[in-house]
Amino acid sequence: MALLLVRDDREYLLERGERLETDLGILEVPEDAAAGEVVTTHLDEGFTVRELRGPDCFNHFERTGAPMMPRDVGLIMGHTGVSESDTVLDAGTGTGVLAAYMGRAGADVITYEQDAEFADVARENMELAGVDEQVDVRTGDVTENLDVGPVDVLTLDTEDAATVVEHAADLLTPGGCLAVYSPFVEQAREVARTARGVGLEGVETLETIQREMDFDDRGSRPSTAGVGHTGFLTFARRE
Ligand SMILES: C[S@@+](CC[C@H](N)C(=O)[O-])C[C@H]1O[C@@H](n2cnc3c(N)ncnc32)[C@H](O)[C@@H]1O
Repeated sequence: MALLLVRDDREYLLERGERLETDLGILEVPEDAAAGEVVTTHLDEGFTVRELRGPDCFNHFERTGAPMMPRDVGLIMGHTGVSESDTVLDAGTGTGVLAAYMGRAGADVITYEQDAEFADVARENMELAGVDEQVDVRTGDVTENLDVGPVDVLTLDTEDAATVVEHAADLLTPGGCLAVYSPFVEQAREVARTARGVGLEGVETLETIQREMDFDDRGSRPSTAGVGHTGFLTFARRE
């Protein structure tokens, strides 16, 4: 697993033994670096070592497209309860943020990415996050690889999610959970319709709305900046 080297508002994600030239000097991460230790550059400038956690995956993974934001990951983790000993089928991998969070929670994740270059980047991201044993990134179109399973959790973040949802009753173990991220309401509606059509239970579509609070000398109010809409999340369960 890579480590974070932190100082003020600088953060570098580096492997043990890696060397980085910074404006504060050359930073070399000792092989035995541990969280809390201070590593100094050759100009004697200190950086604190931190172990990587879920939000660091979102901030530091190499991106191949729009990664899922922690607020939506949180809703998926909360509604599916994904945890140790669960098996998960996920698609598309993309940057791999959701897959890495689920791997960090101890689940065994098979994740499909149809773009071979994106899949290579995602594999490197899983190594950085130390979850390459938990998360198996497979190159391919998930709709052509539905012979996996049954799985405890099925997570989809693809335009053609409804095609996979048609098979969800066969893909999921009894009581298993489905979570689909759809940027547009038309896709979410189609996913919900399909989930009901194949007999899944508790079908619901939600949107996370998150407002950051600004506290300054003049007063406190919700921030006027920030990301508004991200996507719609459709959840359902097999009987
Ligand atoms: C928005 S990204 C996924 C982001 C990801 N959930 C994350 O947390 O980083 C969507 C990805 O799905 C891939 N994709 C789309 N349709 C697919 C399919 N049928 N099978 C596999 N991958 C697919 C795209 O190539 C793209 O990389």
